[in-house]
Amino acid sequence: MSEDLFPIPADWAAHARMNQAARAADYRRSLDDGNAYWLEQAQRLDWITPPTRASDSSFDEADFGIQWFADGTLNVSVNCLDRHLAERGDVTAILWEPDDPAEASRSLTYRELHAEVCRFANVLKDAGARRGDRITIYMPMIPEAAVALLACARIGAIHSVVFGGFSPEALAGRITDCDSSIVITADEGRRGGKRVPLKANVDAALALDHCTSVRRVLVVRATGGAVVMQPGRDSWYDEAMAGVAPDCPAEVMNAEDPLFLLYTSGSTGKPKGVVHSSGGYLLWASLTHALCFDYRPGDVWWCAADVGWVTGHSYIVYGPLANGATTLMYEGLPSWPTPSRIWEVVDRHQVHTLFTAPTVLRALMKEGDHHVAKTSRASLQLLGSVGEPINPEAWRWYHGVAGEGRCPIIDTWWQTETGGAMIAPMPGATDLKPGSATFPMPGVEAQIVDGEGVVQEGASEGNLVIARSWPGQMRTVWNDHERFFQTYFTTFPGKYTTGDGARRDADGYYWITGRVDDVINVSGHRMGTAEVESALVLHATVAEAAVVGMPHDIKGQGIYAYVTLNVGEEPSEDLRRTLTQWVRSEIGPIATPDVIQFAPGLPKTRSGKIMRRILRKIAEGEVSAQALGDVSTLADPSVVADLVRSRAGVA
Ligand code: PRX
Repeated sequence: MSEDLFPIPADWAAHARMNQAARAADYRRSLDDGNAYWLEQAQRLDWITPPTRASDSSFDEADFGIQWFADGTLNVSVNCLDRHLAERGDVTAILWEPDDPAEASRSLTYRELHAEVCRFANVLKDAGARRGDRITIYMPMIPEAAVALLACARIGAIHSVVFGGFSPEALAGRITDCDSSIVITADEGRRGGKRVPLKANVDAALALDHCTSVRRVLVVRATGGAVVMQPGRDSWYDEAMAGVAPDCPAEVMNAEDPLFLLYTSGSTGKPKGVVHSSGGYLLWASLTHALCFDYRPGDVWWCAADVGWVTGHSYIVYGPLANGATTLMYEGLPSWPTPSRIWEVVDRHQVHTLFTAPTVLRALMKEGDHHVAKTSRASLQLLGSVGEPINPEAWRWYHGVAGEGRCPIIDTWWQTETGGAMIAPMPGATDLKPGSATFPMPGVEAQIVDGEGVVQEGASEGNLVIARSWPGQMRTVWNDHERFFQTYFTTFPGKYTTGDGARRDADGYYWITGRVDDVINVSGHRMGTAEVESALVLHATVAEAAVVGMPHDIKGQGIYAYVTLNVGEEPSEDLRRTLTQWVRSEIGPIATPDVIQFAPGLPKTRSGKIMRRILRKIAEGEVSAQALGDVSTLADPSVVADLVRSRAGVA
């Protein structure tokens, strides 16, 4: 890992809202005088009833619970829209760049967005939506996706966005788990010139026997592609919006009322519905957007994520809009139609800050610097990274080639569960080291503990935990509070377990080393190995499956699946293709296995537990006796030699 230091550029040090000394003092105060600190920070938001209490939280089993600003009331859409109207009503809120560069972009001012959200909130009410109802959103990257989120927030409905790359099967599971009554979708999505049949996928999901909760489907006409509308259930967005009043009183919500849930993968098979609050979450999204990216009015902000992931929630929609920003929303792919596209979009819209993922950088890097050099990028002042550890090589390319050495790199470490950035630089306050997310944000009491939970001081490596609550923390797992406690607070009692490993160097910089559980990170998307295993064993030919991560140049990690077939089934290329396709249809293209290795047996202990350590090594191509370690505790050690032998044929 690189230990080079990139000092704070002088212009940033001079004008940023936080300098080095201020950041250190602010951090200390956030921990030493948390109550006063957070009540003060809460003033960033417009409250209907301002809170008088900050945190009422405990990670201990006896009085476990997480609450912030619990006597405060507010409405999130008012914070993102109404409060900007007087001064910034004509400022662009959403700048939209279409998939096809030949098409015109669109923009919506705060006033226009406000009217659109109010209208759609009324449409939702007409469709029977009430406060607390769950509404599933399965949309392409078009402004109506943001409208849908904010309209739910306006009426106090809880949105659950499902990424457009998930299959009908996965969508149905997420609809059913939270008992959604309404689905908002589009005829089709577009990405890289290809069409994604969103409405047809919704139809397929709702046709499944177990998916019975949905009464209404609202469909945005995005491409004009042919779809089947089911009378009584399905309506067109544009038809429903015609003639609807552009004002809608905002529901008064408690700070602790859920704003949304978002399904994410864990180490067990079923994705968890991560529940975020209204007050604490919005404060966290807004504060971290302001501090990590030093957002200033007039700057064009571009978070190149998809709204289907938490990054899109916090940094395309809620954080930037709460801060009155101009947020760019891009429908397509960073490298389509050419590897220059991402930089052409920067130039076209004069983007000030770009926030993207290391996997995108690695893919672009491979295409050659000339695709970057032919664009100007003069507007860029700041570059962000998120989703996975950024390797120093990609960091240096981002800094030196894309940003021409001018733009600090803001590498933000966080998770769906944390709501927003937890460990990250601030451009005027943090000297950078390539590959390090640097220091904890205010109120984030990060610790490194060993396997027994003993806190490590100074330079050390181990498990990353957070020792106290912060406002943006998830509040529960939808419908399963016990699972919430068990998953995050029992491994190291009294602390939030992140599932990540980290190293802290002698200067106090944090370096995230990756997951320490059975979660893998594919192109910055989190995937539970158990989820892929469950999908594989559903196939009639499969007796058993074990999935591990493997190193991948572009994706960070790839999916490596070991499959044991039922007696009588023969391995073949055809079957390999069938199983790959099967996983795509069970979960979605993002779960496509990179390698399927047919394995007559899996390495198991005598008590029947699969030894994943060995499977990981074989997937990495580390097959020496030394790398594989002690196999004598296996029920049948010869399995390992078989796996190593058959590996040659697959990887
Ligand atoms: O392993 C960490 C990795 O992504 C995981 C969280 O994934 P998800 O909930 O999908 O959220 C992604 C967007 C925040 C973490 O447990 N991760 C995320 N950001 C970084 C990272 N690893 C290293 N450095 C990062 N900046």
